[in-house]
Amino acid sequence: MSRGRRKIAVIGAGNVGATCAFVLAQKKLGDIVMLDIYEGFAKGKALDMSQDGQVLNYDGNITGTANYEDISDSDVVVVTSGFPRQPGMSREDLIGKNAEIIKQVGEGIKEHAPNSVVIMVTNPLDLMTYHMWKVTGFPKERIIGQAGVLDSARMTHFVAKEVGCNEEDVQAMVLGGHGDTMVPLPRYTTCGGIPITQLLDEETIDAISKRTAGGGGEIVKLLERGSAFYAPGSAAAIMAESVLNDRKRLIPASAYLNGEYGLNDIFIGVPIILGANGIEKIIELELTENELSSLQGSANFYKSQLTDILGY
Ligand code: NAI
Ligand code: 2OP
Repeated sequence: MSRGRRKIAVIGAGNVGATCAFVLAQKKLGDIVMLDIYEGFAKGKALDMSQDGQVLNYDGNITGTANYEDISDSDVVVVTSGFPRQPGMSREDLIGKNAEIIKQVGEGIKEHAPNSVVIMVTNPLDLMTYHMWKVTGFPKERIIGQAGVLDSARMTHFVAKEVGCNEEDVQAMVLGGHGDTMVPLPRYTTCGGIPITQLLDEETIDAISKRTAGGGGEIVKLLERGSAFYAPGSAAAIMAESVLNDRKRLIPASAYLNGEYGLNDIFIGVPIILGANGIEKIIELELTENELSSLQGSANFYKSQLTDILGY
């Protein structure tokens, strides 16, 4: 017998949270609750989105709240609450303020949605994902950070433009932290199954990798207020879908490592299989010495911040 509609909580009804909820609604994945410290903001966005139900043909209820009781029994919680960066700021400049927010949100999730799978979006992503894991005490498989879907989608976009092919035929792979140290992997990026190393010259590939790593900053600079949200919100929704429909997508995401890639006690971007139980598998790619040292360098950068700034 069906257990009824699934429930998805989106914490933070700002740019990324509302975009994520909007995509989830159109995918008919379940009832959606948006929670924000500003109750009217969450309720207003939920009502506005609900009034699109006939036009865009979605089924579930969309509600807004500031009360954690309303996220009770959520199957998936997407966390987007927190400050975005402004021009001139790195994601790491957000640590202090956002760590406090994540502590409060994590305690709410732990109490009211203790069986949920949590998809983190708040920056600095890999650090806030670790922090959420500590605050909730959830099993490591049920805490996942969104970064790789977005960063790979950005790389995909740039590759498709250079090759002159449809984005649908590109598969990109970006590992490491969601920041300047991220590790685009041209050797594992293909168009129609053909590695891009056979389609583009080295200089073009280097430029694509660089633009991918600076992809968020490029948008922050253009917007002049806040950061990207259409692609980030959609990326988080795609991850929620993989959990809710047990799609077992093989995607890069920030996952807890326990020896994989020679790394321990850190959340960092690696390929995973994402299904109903959260992270079902971490894939260990064969990396060249350079690729592995870039991934380890990225992880070590965040490891020192976990200790020095967050005190873990
Ligand atoms: P925003 O400012 O539009 O929205 C943030 C929302 O969080 C606001 O509505 C605010 O009221 C709410 N909020 C603040 N404190 C809260 C609390 N204690 N409880 C509940 N809600 C609270 O910001 P935007 O653009 O939506 O970005 C959100 C976060 O996502 C930022 O940290 C940003 O850096 C990050 N981000 C991460 C990406 C990724 O790939 N992982 C990509 C894009 C953004
Ligand atoms: C992005 O990559 C700022 O993390 C945000 O767009």
